[in-house]
Amino acid sequence: MYRMIAIACVDAKNGIGKNGNLLISIPEDMKFFRESTKDSVIIMGRKTLFSFKDKKPLKNRINIVFTKNDKLKGEYKDCDNIFFVKNEAELEKILENYKDKKVFLIGGASIYNDLIDKCDTCLITKLDKSFDADTFFPDLSKHGFIVESESENNTYENINYKFIKYIRG
Ligand SMILES: NC(=O)c1ccc[n+]([C@@H]2O[C@H](COP(=O)([O-])OP(=O)(O)OC[C@H]3O[C@@H](n4cnc5c(N)ncnc54)[C@H](OP(=O)(O)O)[C@@H]3O)[C@@H](O)[C@H]2O)c1
Repeated sequence: MYRMIAIACVDAKNGIGKNGNLLISIPEDMKFFRESTKDSVIIMGRKTLFSFKDKKPLKNRINIVFTKNDKLKGEYKDCDNIFFVKNEAELEKILENYKDKKVFLIGGASIYNDLIDKCDTCLITKLDKSFDADTFFPDLSKHGFIVESESENNTYENINYKFIKYIRG
């Protein structure tokens, strides 16, 4: 049984995105994401893959993408660090080959909602501002998570934010 770490940047109302994009890009948060997930497995939905630059998988990571579209695989045949899965059984089969690596759930909303109960840790960058979001992160208190630790307040363009680590209570 594999366990995963969810990682997300959420606004004051748990918003995570709008029109297929992030609500905001905070350099320190991007750095935290890069450093946390480097050399690990990252699991995402197809729309999150398409939100990356040139729709390319993230380098130095094993990218696993949920999609129902069988044709997508062919479009990425030149990339050796991406796998496509249709369901959890296919995901588990691929994860069997990466038992030595950490596994991160990196979004978006549909994937966080489907797989949050497979996570034992959530690394949340929590903003104190609400944006006009159309996609949301699940309510962690309803999934049995409690705060284990949180950073001091940071500020970026008048927005206060904290790095919060949640674990299962
Ligand atoms: N703030 C953050 O930390 C953060 C992190 C990640 C993403 N985001 C944002 O979240 C938004 C995207 O979230 P989203 O929920 O709209 O999309 P998503 O979860 O990234 O991708 C949804 C797609 O994943 C595939 N999928 C989902 N569940 C599946 C299943 N059970 N079986 C097979 N395929 C499945 C489908 O792809 P097909 O349509 O190809 O079948 C579906 O259309 C964007 O705005 C993005 O910027 C924010």
